[in-house]
This record gives sequence, C-alpha cells and structure tokens, in this order.
Amino acid sequence: METGGSLWLIFFLCLGLLQVRVKPDPDPLQDYCVADTTSPQGRDLFINGAPCINPAMATPSHFATSALAMRGNTANQVGSNVSLTTTRNLPGLNTQGLAMARVDFAARGIVPPHAHPRASEVTICIQGSILVGFINTTNHLFTQQLRAGDSFVFPKGLVHFLYNVDAMTPAVAVAGLNSQNPGAQLVSLATFATKPAIPDEVVERAFQITGQELARIRKNLGG
Ligand SMILES: *[C@@H]1O[C@H](CO)[C@@H](O)[C@H](O)[C@H]1NC(C)=O
Ligand SMILES: *[C@@H]1O[C@H](CO)[C@@H](O)[C@H](O)[C@H]1NC(C)=O
Repeated sequence: METGGSLWLIFFLCLGLLQVRVKPDPDPLQDYCVADTTSPQGRDLFINGAPCINPAMATPSHFATSALAMRGNTANQVGSNVSLTTTRNLPGLNTQGLAMARVDFAARGIVPPHAHPRASEVTICIQGSILVGFINTTNHLFTQQLRAGDSFVFPKGLVHFLYNVDAMTPAVAVAGLNSQNPGAQLVSLATFATKPAIPDEVVERAFQITGQELARIRKNLGG
C-alpha cells in the first residue's frame, strides 16, 4: 500500500514535470498585443515575442494578411515553397500562440525532413496528392497518402516530410502550427551546412561516410 502510494506520487510528479516541458506558447495577458513591426531591428530591448502597439491603435487589418494568397515559386532544388505567417506579415498573431503556412509543390516536389522545435502542426491537403510522414523517437515512420481534403498531424518536435508524389501536377497544402514562432530545423542543412561546419570527423563517423562523400554532400547543399 505504502509503495503503491509513493509510486502514484512519483507518477503524478513526472506527469507534472512533463506538462511543464511541453507547454505551448504562453497565454496572452490582453485581448491582443498587435506586433509593433516598426520597432527597429537593432533594438536594445529583447522580449519573448514582439512588443505591442498601443491597443487603441489596433485595426481589423492588423488581424488580416495576404501572405498566403500567392503561389510560392517552386523553381528551386526541392520543388516546394513554404509561405509562413509571422508577427511581421500578420501583426495580430503576436501572443496568440499560432501560425499558418501555405506549401506549394511542383510535380515531385518535396519539403525535406525537418522539425519544428516549438510547435505541433496540422496540415490539410488542398490540391493534389501528398505523401506525408513523421518519424517517432525510436525511428518508426508514420506515413500516409493525403488527397485533397485530407489532414494529418505532425507531433511537436518530430522530424517530418511532405512529398508531392505526382509527376505531372502541382499540389498545395495549408498548415496550422501552435506557436507564433514554430522554428524549422532541416535535418540536411543542420547536419551538413552549418556555419561554422560541424567537424568533418564527427559527420563522417555519424554517417559512416568518407571525407570525399562528405565534401560532395556539403557542396550539393551549399555548406
Ligand atoms: C518562394 O516564393 C517566393 C515568392 O515567389 C520567392 O520570393 C522565394 O524566393 C521562394 N523561395 C524559394 C526557397 O524558392
Ligand atoms: C514508435 O513507433 C513504434 C511503432 O508503432 C512503437 O513500437 C514505438 O514504441 C514508438 N516509439 C515511441 C517513443 O513512441
């Protein structure tokens, strides 16, 4: 009985700790905190988020954006283009704990494996057909083929990718993320194209590749 009780206590303590660790963005303390996009870049005051304008100056247009209205140019190495709302192009989202993205795909375009350290993501396929997948922390792949209208959740912080499997037609997806600043770390760039570079020996050993192979990958990725 004694042991059972303390086990439960430990269980709830751990649960409490976990909840602290996976907290989303902090709750707003006001109706809104429209980002002051005029605050200078080289400012000397840094806060968690963007400073607010005087709430009396907020207008409906602060809560609207056309940032996702235009098709992104997909004529690049990966054949995709991600447009994201930010406090700059949508000042009203400041402190609201969310962001939206539009992903345009060329035929066979990909969004390479990447992770968002601060957000879970839900993606809806608007047009075309997209193969999506995430990898859990024991390297099991959860993958699904989405058709227009289908949605998929990428759990917070897990590596995931999107792929327009169609060789002929472009595709479009829209995503919601539960952070105003989700962050994105591309596995390929974070490994091979950092500045300064991760020491060669570390990457060679981690990937079991030769110096020549490493140099080639670095060159391909502009590292
Ligand atoms: C995405 O599209 C925009 C608008 O066409 C363009 O300015 C930008 O360079 C594109 N980004 C990439 C990575 O191709
Ligand atoms: C990852 O998924 C596999 C397959 O469902 C499962 O066996 C494993 O326990 C999962 N790992 C975690 C950390 O959830």
